[in-house]
Amino acid sequence: MKIAVFVGSIRNGRHGRTVGQWALDQLQARGDGNTYELIDLIEQDLDQLTAAVPPIMAAGTYDEVKTTAWSGTISSYDGFIFVTPEYNASVPGTMKNAFDLLKVEWEGKPVGFLSYGGGGGVRAVNHWRDIVANVGMLPLEAQAALAFDDHFVDFQFAPNEQTVELLEAVAAELVQVGEKATVNA
Ligand SMILES: Cc1cc2nc3c(=O)[nH]c(=O)nc-3n(C[C@H](O)[C@H](O)[C@H](O)COP(=O)(O)O)c2cc1C
Repeated sequence: MKIAVFVGSIRNGRHGRTVGQWALDQLQARGDGNTYELIDLIEQDLDQLTAAVPPIMAAGTYDEVKTTAWSGTISSYDGFIFVTPEYNASVPGTMKNAFDLLKVEWEGKPVGFLSYGGGGGVRAVNHWRDIVANVGMLPLEAQAALAFDDHFVDFQFAPNEQTVELLEAVAAELVQVGEKATVNA
């Protein structure tokens, strides 16, 4: 399987990239035969969703060149780990826009969450669960919610044994669900 760690925050000085890069390194170190790659939203050239045709009607064919490229990127993965902060009790708007641009490309694929924030980003993930289910993704039960008090020191990401265990639970379920989804496809 080819799995993407999708970093969705793009702020100057964001923590998202550090958390995502750490997760990628951990996942690659599993040596489980799967391919893990990073998608950093800041490196993607995406439009705001202005298309007249809603993605659910577009069925994977888009008039917009940038959305077509984004479609190709997401189509190439079998599963995802969304690295998401919590902004105002919900998901980051830029990440939601990137998600909303597509539909069939996400469908039927497992997605795990690695969230962070004062309360671990739990409220963002609660919203993500509804969002991803709406396009037919398979949200995992395991969830790595990193509260600042437990996984950061002086506002710097400082993963510990518990951080590793939380991510490992997500990874193990992702691989298991992903393999089942591939067999049933
Ligand atoms: C617009 C905005 C809203 C935020 N709202 C929340 C919030 O509702 N809950 C929370 O725990 N943290 C909140 N925070 C703090 C973020 O968790 C913290 O800034 C985190 O580092 C954001 O991730 P990033 O650095 O990858 O952008 C907010 C931050 C921003 C920029």
